[in-house]
Amino acid sequence: MTQITSEISNQVQVIRFNRPEKMNALTRDMYADLAKLLSEAAGDFAVRAVVISSVGDHFTAGNDIMDFMSNPPTSEDSTVAAFLSAILNFPKPLIASVKGNAVGVGTTLLLHCDVVVASETAAFSMPFTSLGLVPEAGSSLLFPALVGYQRAAKIFMTGEVFGAQYAREIGLVAEVATDSDAEAIAIADKIAAQPPTAIINTKALMKASKHDAVEAVMRAEFQLFAMALESEEFADAAMRFMAKKGK
Ligand code: COA
Repeated sequence: MTQITSEISNQVQVIRFNRPEKMNALTRDMYADLAKLLSEAAGDFAVRAVVISSVGDHFTAGNDIMDFMSNPPTSEDSTVAAFLSAILNFPKPLIASVKGNAVGVGTTLLLHCDVVVASETAAFSMPFTSLGLVPEAGSSLLFPALVGYQRAAKIFMTGEVFGAQYAREIGLVAEVATDSDAEAIAIADKIAAQPPTAIINTKALMKASKHDAVEAVMRAEFQLFAMALESEEFADAAMRFMAKKGK
């Protein structure tokens, strides 16, 4: 699992995206590793909280665009669907540490976390429409519910990038810290020292009202996303990305 690393210390599991040469863009193999790790962590008594972070200066540039083109996830048994289901259903506290770019799923996965810490360098964006795609990971429901319809629409429809302070203002992140990893791990350590059943039940109660609705929206998003991946709008955007890279 070299492109996804994992270590456990003091009952806190730290999972990191580790593909810094491609800005931690996520491939289907990486999604498979993430889904497997989360499912193991859910059942592991030695793990009381999970931190999701990254190696290098960036969180993730989102789905690997080349992978999307060569292996579009068009069925619900794809590894990306397994990962999204794993974060939606993860029963223990999930804390994220975000530095640098958090593009696409790099931002939408945060909507499933319990606490997000951003570094000052964090830059969030969900440029799905710019790519001819649609929001995923339940974000078409969760993001407007969190920040209000109009702010969500502006961000989704313009594809604009926003920083750590704005992310805190709109409630996407709980804290901005100089060292987001250290702060995220400190929060996870504090949570891990709490009575574990009380923590799991608290999370279940807080997530309960939206769970089924998010699951249904994820299915609808997935169908539209799969169709969009085969569209001319996506093909044009992917070509532009590759042309920019001179590939
Ligand atoms: N898929 C595949 N490779 C990606 C990638 C992605 N989503 N994002 C970045 N990379 C790769 C680049 O191709 C480059 O690799 P190379 O050096 O082999 O060419 C490397 O990561 C660094 O990225 P680069 O584009 O040079 O960095 P930048 O600072 O100029 O731009 C971004 C950063 C995030 C603005 C730009 O990489 C980008 O737009 N990426 C695509 C983001 C995206 O649309 N994600 C999908 C959302 S659904």
